[in-house]
Amino acid sequence: MTAGTRFDRREMIGLGAAAVAAAAAGPLRAAPASHPFLWGAATAGHQVEGNNINADIWLLEQVKPTIFAEPSGDACDSLHRWREDVAIVKALGLNCYRFSVEWSRIEPAPGQFSQAWLDHYARIVDHCREQGLAPVVTFNHFTTPRWFAAAGGWENPDAPDLFARYCDRVARAMAAGISHALTFNEPNLALGGNWAIHPLSQAMRDAVAACCAAAAKASGSDRFSLLNAGDPAPMISGVVAAHVAARAAIRAVRSDLPIGMSLAIPDNVAVGADSGIERKRAEVYGPFFAVMDKDDFIGVQTYGRAFVGADRDVDPPADAPKRPGGGEWFPAAIGNVVRYAYKATGLPVMVTENGIDAADDSERERFIPEAVASVEAARHDGVPVLGYIHWSLLDNFEWMSGYGPKFGLVSVDRRTFKRTVKPSAKRLGAIARAGGVRAG
Ligand code: BGC
Repeated sequence: MTAGTRFDRREMIGLGAAAVAAAAAGPLRAAPASHPFLWGAATAGHQVEGNNINADIWLLEQVKPTIFAEPSGDACDSLHRWREDVAIVKALGLNCYRFSVEWSRIEPAPGQFSQAWLDHYARIVDHCREQGLAPVVTFNHFTTPRWFAAAGGWENPDAPDLFARYCDRVARAMAAGISHALTFNEPNLALGGNWAIHPLSQAMRDAVAACCAAAAKASGSDRFSLLNAGDPAPMISGVVAAHVAARAAIRAVRSDLPIGMSLAIPDNVAVGADSGIERKRAEVYGPFFAVMDKDDFIGVQTYGRAFVGADRDVDPPADAPKRPGGGEWFPAAIGNVVRYAYKATGLPVMVTENGIDAADDSERERFIPEAVASVEAARHDGVPVLGYIHWSLLDNFEWMSGYGPKFGLVSVDRRTFKRTVKPSAKRLGAIARAGGVRAG
């Protein structure tokens, strides 16, 4: 089962939301003048490393019944091939690599921290620096340790402290080399699901519940709670508190390290006089914007537009430009989101993800310059944008959809793990080397 579930990007593109009341916005901050614009590509641990066996999602992939199309298995074997991945980023002419550290490796049992795994991720940070790449590091990209999920996940009152303790360890091991830290990746994704064009059916909800129940049983617990499965409402206050606690923990280690979190934000378009766009923004972004005033930047992640009707998203208008296989073609969505995020928060904006699921790479090749041009236009109009990081470096494990979707700039042979750079990657590299689309 792959469609309509909380992890499925193709569903999620229509689900996400956008912003919050201007009331949440503080004074606007300029991007630090000295900072070079970041041109990057992104990965996430569970999606590329392989054999992330202590993670909550690994267990959900294994149990019966499962809601995953296939298990992640060896993924892209980036656990062993990360130097090759970094080398590709460098050879393309990019100057930034975004990756995530896996909590379940670093803290395989509560309070038991692995120095070896901390060293592993610190080596990646150091190696990026040696190669002249800025490491943008995500501390939580969806996955948590199995023990954390079995103890109630973000609903556990101890969750903020547990997350902050882990972030402190990570910061002490590698903060000196990190360029920008993201506490969370898209913690608002599940909230966006409440506005989905096609809400989860009861059968889908039952399937998610059955999968989590099987994982709870396998863990000897009566619960197995994670943010992207089940009702997000009781988890949001825990996640928000965890962001605040993590930010403090990281800052205590290195006060000048820029810290933010990334949010899933489609380019929301109001449909009809009774559009619920502001309510959607308040619900899906409000809780996070409310605590981001002390962040240094906001990460935005955009995969298209969302047309917001009275109570939920609706289909794009019939005359909207279409992709060959269906779905809307609107690469400029990211430019609009960058503008929106700045207006709503007053923070410098980093594009931490933007991309397209395209088996035909020529679509991505056309997508990238249009998307980048829309970001450049926003910069030109005065929005402080820190960088453009494309999702994803590699064709990888796309959560519940398995290995079907193709978001990568680079393909990966499923048997040999051989990486093949696609033309779109070279296009992005050429743009980066030229310093933008106009010159690229
Ligand atoms: C996530 C990635 C995911 C991508 C494409 C984002 O929601 O951060 O992990 O692979 O979208 O679906």
